[in-house]
Amino acid sequence: METLYKKLEAYHARDIYPFHMPGHKRNEGAVDLLPGLTRDITEIEGFDDLHHPTGILRGAQDTAARLYGADETFYSVNGSTGALLAAVCACTTHGGSVLIARNCHRCVYHAISLMQLDSHYLYPRITVPYGLNGSIQPEQVERALSVHPDVQAVVITSPTYDGVVSPIKEIATIVHRHKLPLIVDEAHGAHFPFHSYFPVSALGQGADLVIHSLHKTLPALTQTALLHVRGDLADREQIRRYMAMFQTSSPSYLLMGSIDACIQKLSRSGSGLFGEYVDRLKRSRTRLSKLRFVRLVGESLIDRETVWDLDLSKLILDVEGSCMDGPQVYQCLLKKYNIQMEMETLTYVLGMTSIADTEEGFERLCWALEDLEGSWVRRGQIPSKERMASSQDLSVLSGEKVLPIGRAMEQDRTRRPILQSEGCVSGAFLYLYPPGIPLAAPGEKITSRLIEAITRFQDTGLTVQGLTGTSGPEIWILCHGNS
Ligand SMILES: Cc1ncc(COP(=O)(O)O)c(C=O)c1O
Repeated sequence: METLYKKLEAYHARDIYPFHMPGHKRNEGAVDLLPGLTRDITEIEGFDDLHHPTGILRGAQDTAARLYGADETFYSVNGSTGALLAAVCACTTHGGSVLIARNCHRCVYHAISLMQLDSHYLYPRITVPYGLNGSIQPEQVERALSVHPDVQAVVITSPTYDGVVSPIKEIATIVHRHKLPLIVDEAHGAHFPFHSYFPVSALGQGADLVIHSLHKTLPALTQTALLHVRGDLADREQIRRYMAMFQTSSPSYLLMGSIDACIQKLSRSGSGLFGEYVDRLKRSRTRLSKLRFVRLVGESLIDRETVWDLDLSKLILDVEGSCMDGPQVYQCLLKKYNIQMEMETLTYVLGMTSIADTEEGFERLCWALEDLEGSWVRRGQIPSKERMASSQDLSVLSGEKVLPIGRAMEQDRTRRPILQSEGCVSGAFLYLYPPGIPLAAPGEKITSRLIEAITRFQDTGLTVQGLTGTSGPEIWILCHGNS
């Protein structure tokens, strides 16, 4: 029988290059603390207590706060997930109300359901071309807050999974005029402060709570994250209470040590490491931008209207002008070239890069895509000029909200074949993972566009999570309130 631990043992012997998280890229030279049994301890004498820090952990969190320019920083060993759950819960009251970008990660929706919040949505514009979720615009926030005066906090994801950044400074000014806290999910932007090639971090732009996954873009172990606080619009004691609720009472010293090692490394030699990385990245982006059929999404997408700014550490390779779709290119990179990408959609594949990426890794990706294009030409597979049915309409879907998420999750539910579910009320979250943004939330009407999207995703081999059924795709719907 294949076992997980043996499979993990065997995996590192295979020569597969990771253009995915974690940001240490399994490069042992990039981290100062290697995980191992000898460092796995509990709260023994001299090692402090994460939930009541007064010693070494207090100091370590203060060092992280100084590095990022926060007033206070909390370690999370439950990723940005734990930190976002704590942030939303700390800034709202049970049965209250929250304004969120519709493309927030599912953990924000989970906080909404736990706190029985009413949720109001900010829909990002969709970019033309590429069909990416764009930025949230300040005017949208202004409008929404005047229509929903009961909102207690605003949550924006910036950067998005694809690297799209919103104008946080302008948004924060509006949110603060309403005396509300702005929570920014910057899970994918923990590297921003370390080089001017990347967008400006939300910390210092007026955000009150900023969440960073260190493990996504920096050399730190999976699950490591930081929650930064600035100003006094968010209640620190509430944050402390919820951070204790959403994390284990036995936080791993390997994970906390990994956060500390990462912060110390960046404090000591961040500028040198980032300088070298950005040089490697720029050279690779220049080469990738010369591809004939695969298009590297870059600066030209930034227009202040739809995309305020873009994180160029992400390699978004749009394949709509080629003869393969996203899942086919993703599989081909893996099977033929030993390259594991982070994510695929119908029309693009995404690679994540970091300071731990090697010259050899970048070279392998550039060469693989050049070779793939060469093989298309040699075999006469002239890429179709006709763009595939665009994914533009499918990235963020809006279904009429019939019930708040938390209430919908408590209702009786039943299954229905997906093709017969139009007009019913969803009894589950449905999403592609990654990126984990709900296509539908419990309590929302199922639209024909949602059904079309799910069908298209499945036809292309993408897995929609949250569906059920053994003999065909079925969807959980609420027993009452369906048409
Ligand atoms: C935008 C965004 N926010 C939050 C999270 C959760 O982060 P973590 O994996 O650190 O819990 C993710 C995970 O992919 C994400 O993409």
